[in-house]
Amino acid sequence: MKKTSVLDKSETRIRRMFGTIAPTYDLLNHLLSCQVDRYWRWQTTRLVPPQNDGPILDVCTGTGDLALAYWKAGRKQVPVIGADFASEMLALARRKAARRRARNVVFVQADAQALPFRDNQFQIVSVAFGLRNITDYRRGLAEMVRVARPAGQVVILEFSRPSQSLWGKLYQWYFRRVLPCIGQLISGQSAYYYLPASVFEFPDGEALAEEMRCAGLQSVWFHHFAFRIATLYVGTKPGTPM
Ligand SMILES: C[S@@+](CC[C@H](N)C(=O)[O-])C[C@H]1O[C@@H](n2cnc3c(N)ncnc32)[C@H](O)[C@@H]1O
Repeated sequence: MKKTSVLDKSETRIRRMFGTIAPTYDLLNHLLSCQVDRYWRWQTTRLVPPQNDGPILDVCTGTGDLALAYWKAGRKQVPVIGADFASEMLALARRKAARRRARNVVFVQADAQALPFRDNQFQIVSVAFGLRNITDYRRGLAEMVRVARPAGQVVILEFSRPSQSLWGKLYQWYFRRVLPCIGQLISGQSAYYYLPASVFEFPDGEALAEEMRCAGLQSVWFHHFAFRIATLYVGTKPGTPM
């Protein structure tokens, strides 16, 4: 039987992997990050807040945490769309939105490489811990830029390679050695071996900022969180606001 490489990023494998880990996804996210992932998403909405009542799109939305954080940041008035191709993740996102009575947050099943939206629609197009997983992430980035409004913001929250400080090195050991074992124990899946492997082969810092410039974004900046464990990248689509 053909053995799947830990870094196989075919659409089928990625979709199946996230569909399978969906039931334990939130639990493991919050547990393995000691809840810090919540803080990063909240900080993202503080550093790049909604500017008006135009719609916001969150791609690779998973169970919808960043979409709902943006809904809250927009004082529950701004319409938010969360898009993902894994129906199991979307089912959990919809349940979460219903519990919060977030009626203007909708979740749609869509491939981030071919978004079913017209050009120039959204004031913010965000992605948290998702870009790295898109089979052709450059195509995903190009799609995010396409659907953002002129002067709109493209926001990427992603894991990065930790600094070489003592804490950074300790975290790296935890991330590579401990986290995959806990992940496998709780989810029963080997997906948590894919996580560190995918982070260490994905561009981060200036390299990802350069990819954003190549995708047509301007004024690109990035902000590291906690020993560079995660980084927020922001770029502006050229043009005058519509
Ligand atoms: C690590 S999860 C991140 C979920 C969420 N954004 C968060 O902050 O927790 C990555 C998500 O990206 C989705 N994904 C990966 N590739 C995709 C693609 N090509 N199109 C749509 N969704 C995709 C997966 O289904 C999964 O839900």
